[in-house]
Amino acid sequence: MKILTKTIAGLEQILADEIEQLGGRNIRILKRAVSFEGDMKLLYRCNLELRTALRVLVPIYSFKARNENVYYDKIKQLDWSKYMKVNDTLAVNGTTHSQYFNHSKYVALKAKDAIVDQFREKEGRRPSVNVHAPTLRINIHIQDEDVNVSLDSSGQPLFKRGYRMERMEAPLNEILAAGMILSSGWKKDCDFVDAMCGSGTLLIEAGLMAKNIPPLWFRKEAFGFQKWRDYDDELWQTVRKEAKEKITDFQHNIYGFDRDFKALGTARTNILSAELTEDIALKRTTFERLEAPSEKGIMIMNPPYDERLHIKNINELYKMMGDSFKQNFKGWEVWVISSNMEALKHIGLRPSKKIRLMNGALDCKFLKFEMYEGTKKMKKIKEM
Ligand SMILES: C[S@@+](CC[C@H](N)C(=O)[O-])C[C@H]1O[C@@H](n2cnc3c(N)ncnc32)[C@H](O)[C@@H]1O
Repeated sequence: MKILTKTIAGLEQILADEIEQLGGRNIRILKRAVSFEGDMKLLYRCNLELRTALRVLVPIYSFKARNENVYYDKIKQLDWSKYMKVNDTLAVNGTTHSQYFNHSKYVALKAKDAIVDQFREKEGRRPSVNVHAPTLRINIHIQDEDVNVSLDSSGQPLFKRGYRMERMEAPLNEILAAGMILSSGWKKDCDFVDAMCGSGTLLIEAGLMAKNIPPLWFRKEAFGFQKWRDYDDELWQTVRKEAKEKITDFQHNIYGFDRDFKALGTARTNILSAELTEDIALKRTTFERLEAPSEKGIMIMNPPYDERLHIKNINELYKMMGDSFKQNFKGWEVWVISSNMEALKHIGLRPSKKIRLMNGALDCKFLKFEMYEGTKKMKKIKEM
């Protein structure tokens, strides 16, 4: 079976590595997506275990169309009774990058019309639409004249992990947070810190990774595939059981700090629902006053960018961060994500690695700073 996973721009290679570890075959990296082959068990595992996938799709049908009549007719030619019954509900999501089809919403609507018309003509009744929790979620992707129709096996997108009870302003998307941690190459062999932790997304994703807990372990709503006609509950229970057996203890510590009481309250609630209270320590403190909690470790930070969270003097904040890395985090590896390129320069240290990532619509840099012990001089940045 061919499987297509969607992700965020910049995380394609990380996702491909994850898929390889799960045993995917013929892996191909595409734009914001990775395709591969596998069986039903792998499909279930991908939904439960991939940390950087947004959706897991199963392509079922592709054809060429240059106008809406051909498009409608082709969609109607597929026998949809193989996938749903008239009493089931459906939702169609569309994306188009084509001179022939301009509007994603229209593409989705036309496909829905073709499907319900097929049922009406055959059975005299039509299935209903349910955009939130349909029996069958269908995904249409059009590139020029190439139309690809897939079944969405995830249902709700996979960043909806099921542990986020409360939101703060400007939280990281869970997939981006997981992708940042995986990109850092953290081997779970040292302490992990987020010193501006907000609602705790990086801490929770790190905690789940550290203990080998699948990222979707806490999801309560059904995955898309659980409503399919060929759903194999026994296989799903086996997948969950095997994942549970791999959950381990973590030998190091995870610390979250923030200067904001409210943020810490939100983080605490989310950490509780991810069952990581024993593993993550939270403390209110400003970064200016923070000292490294141990001799060695990794710190990943998502400071304000002065975009969604406005800050009076953003350059000063980043300069203070750089000074603190040098003084208080010797021996640590520090990563910072930001869309504010000017402010990043004010950290005043040369990054040893730069990764481009999208945080929503914001083009960001994810920079690594290695804070060597002792006398090794940190060079000032000339250019970034
Ligand atoms: C962009 S938010 C982090 C969001 C977080 N990654 C999440 O997913 O919810 C930035 C956080 O930095 C905190 N912050 C800003 N300046 C700080 C400082 N000087 N010391 C400690 N925390 C600070 C803010 O209170 C805010 O919670």
